Amino acid sequence: MTTASFSSSGKAPGKRLAGATVGIPPRQMDFRFPADSRRYFFDDNAFASMFFATLSGFFPPGERFFVESVRHYRDRISDPVMKAKISGFIGQEAIHGREHDRLNEMLTRRGIKVWFADRAVKVGLGFLEKFSPSQQLACTIFMEHFTALLAEQLLTDERFRARADAEIIPLWMWHAVEELEHKAVAYDVYQQVSGSYAHRVLAVPLTAVALTPMVVASMAWLLNAEGQIFNREDRARGWKFLFARRGFVARIMPKMGDFLARDFHPDNHDTTALVQEWQDKLFGPNGRLLEEFRNREALMH
Ligand SMILES: [Fe+2]
Ligand SMILES: [Fe+2]
Repeated sequence: MTTASFSSSGKAPGKRLAGATVGIPPRQMDFRFPADSRRYFFDDNAFASMFFATLSGFFPPGERFFVESVRHYRDRISDPVMKAKISGFIGQEAIHGREHDRLNEMLTRRGIKVWFADRAVKVGLGFLEKFSPSQQLACTIFMEHFTALLAEQLLTDERFRARADAEIIPLWMWHAVEELEHKAVAYDVYQQVSGSYAHRVLAVPLTAVALTPMVVASMAWLLNAEGQIFNREDRARGWKFLFARRGFVARIMPKMGDFLARDFHPDNHDTTALVQEWQDKLFGPNGRLLEEFRNREALMH
């Protein structure tokens, strides 16, 4: 199997985006995926592959929702450091959406109908858009809490790297690092412009109602389209990996509740050393994605 190729560029000195000056650099990535790779890119398992395909389908519209809910309040922020963090956040999320679009195009070329996940998440987000800007931002900070936990899981749990096809791993690792770099930005904006605890609490059921059925619908629809929905052996294996006790996603769930603590702040859970470790591993001193991350072995150490 051929490996994915990609290139990335650090920003030339003097031309760095403002976010880079506060540790949130939007890195220009350009992931390329070979056309001849496996259809079920995660452990040759349809169930888990369709879960990650659903996530990838959700990201571009989801990240646009995050960006818009923060951008709505951008002019209310005067602190230059906070403004730079917002620029970094918006830049990173925009590039995440673009690169997941690229992955989704590759999956589509393979015949996986990721467009359904895109439609499904847009229905869920359309429901959230009916609420006030403060409530929408509260939903964003809850989803950012989820993405930060997922990012930490991706970076610390070797099982993803051991089972996913090598060509897609760098994209998920890069995305995970940047999610942790900017994990507090939307929350800090929220605290400055609203800070409503009631909206924060309400964000949990609203987001769950808006998106959980969309995850289920998307996975069911995709598995049906793949002709795998009645494949019990495949489903049992995928379920065990993702959702059973100590499963990849199940491990995140107990920490979701931290969000409801009155004194919650994303930085209360310190991930600085983990981010540093992965920045060094992936990007090296010049901020470019290191060439050796074309292969799985390099990511396992
Ligand atoms: Fe993102
Ligand atoms: Fe994010």
